[in-house]
Amino acid sequence: MAGPKSWCLSSLVWVSMGSKGTEEKKPYSAPDSDRQTIRPRELSDKMESAMTELPHVDSFDPEDKDGIASPSTSENSATTNSVHKEARPTEPVELNVGDPHFMANAYDTYANLRAKGPVSRVHFAGGAEEAAGNDREQQRGFFGSQETFFVTHYDEVISTLLDHRFAVDPRASMSPEQVEELEAQTPEEFRLFSRSIISLDPPDHTRLRKLVQPSFTGRGMQALRGTIQHVVEDLLGQAERDAADRGEAAPYRRMDLIEAFAYPFPVTVISDMLGIPREDRETIRGWTENLLRVDRGRVDEEVRAGLREFIDYLQELFERKRQAPTEDMISRLVHAEEDGEILDDDEVLATVFLMFLAGHVTTVNLVGNGVVALLTHPDQLAKLKADPELAKGMVEETLRYWGPVDFIGRRVAKEDVELSGTVIPTGEQATVSLASANRDPERFANPDVFDITRADANRHVAFGKGIHACLGAPLARVEGQVAFSTLFRRFPELRLAVPAKEVQWSSSFLRGFARLPVLY
Ligand code: HEM
Repeated sequence: MAGPKSWCLSSLVWVSMGSKGTEEKKPYSAPDSDRQTIRPRELSDKMESAMTELPHVDSFDPEDKDGIASPSTSENSATTNSVHKEARPTEPVELNVGDPHFMANAYDTYANLRAKGPVSRVHFAGGAEEAAGNDREQQRGFFGSQETFFVTHYDEVISTLLDHRFAVDPRASMSPEQVEELEAQTPEEFRLFSRSIISLDPPDHTRLRKLVQPSFTGRGMQALRGTIQHVVEDLLGQAERDAADRGEAAPYRRMDLIEAFAYPFPVTVISDMLGIPREDRETIRGWTENLLRVDRGRVDEEVRAGLREFIDYLQELFERKRQAPTEDMISRLVHAEEDGEILDDDEVLATVFLMFLAGHVTTVNLVGNGVVALLTHPDQLAKLKADPELAKGMVEETLRYWGPVDFIGRRVAKEDVELSGTVIPTGEQATVSLASANRDPERFANPDVFDITRADANRHVAFGKGIHACLGAPLARVEGQVAFSTLFRRFPELRLAVPAKEVQWSSSFLRGFARLPVLY
């Protein structure tokens, strides 16, 4: 069945899908033969993927006497964006997101694009390797032969995200007939996603965000710190018990840090925050996994049935919280009222789904990426161990250096928009590269150096900007701070269980590690 090409979240939340306008007119499309594929280190480097898997720990060898990660080719080189400026900025460059090495090479790719100017034309090729069969077909649908403007400079990334002439709702650039067709093609369970704040433009977005925002204040999230600490201690305690059951002793205990810790951590925190009863956690686990399948573009009957079950469960929970509110987010959402506005059931459902979609894998990756960055930069790890207060800076620098979201699409020009000399025509999509902006040497000195004491790391754009800036940012920050400080306090011997070259970016459009074997 053809997937609903437009609502949906992560491939869906973050990337998504051309508007109808994009499909119909491609003003700058060049013939295939003209397409320029940027493969920064080309095949020779693929042979040495040992190093390119971890782009900026190129010379790191756990056996190395110093144990200090050497700079990559670009580290310390502070090149400016303008030095290699080339003509023909509109010739599409192929970004092969289906290439398992895409993420490993991406920062060099972005540097090459930045050198061409703030806005390039790119062509997304491939799909996520992890998707199989039907999943894979669906993903190809989402990415396949997509051409888009690709914004790479820090200033232009910010101005695009602040520019109200871009819409996130694909309907903004469709004719009424196209909207009708899209809605008719969208299975009922998926229509919900179009009610989610991340997919809405003002005034609907403004109304919903006002109602949802009070659940996410920085103060409220700080109040959650105790709960978050508890979740972290519990998971690490469980990992220790599992190791003891296997007869392992410190410092040779083993765990896959993603599976045992980073993955279950945010989903437990979100469930606590929402007020999902503890006794229901096992039941909802399958449903949240199912939700992630939707996010990866799978829309078959099994997934739809899973969604229906989750919806039924949540609706019943809403009713209970309506009758007997407790101190949690679902209770607040079902009772939310502002200037006479309330959230209807579908809006609460869409918001709850979005928490699981936008707040789960991103946080898993923040934790995994931060741990790998530290373990491969022993000088930085030593600093954090000496001063746990640096956990705050560590989170900001991880978000800047290896932020979980490389780029976000879903910005469709409602009118012709001129961006530093490039016109993005009405109906065309702009994709903004947060990862590229975060390594822009015009904004960050020595951007390819991982430095947890960097004073301006928090100027990163890993959480986006403007009206859609991440609502969960205060939560993610506290989660990261608690995770890093507790992990290295409890397990000071924590280290990679395999050579760094074997720790590979997963082939997903979100930046993260699927597996992370460690010893502690
Ligand atoms: C490190 C972790 C996270 C990262 C890197 C991240 C990143 C982002 C980014 C880049 C956006 C903007 C999307 C756009 O402009 O289209 C966003 C939006 C959003 N995020 Fe996060 N996020 C993280 C964690 C969370 C968490 C923990 C939650 C909630 C539990 C959350 C909830 C949201 C919501 C609701 C939005 C939509 C806001 C709107 O459209 O008004 N995120 N996030």
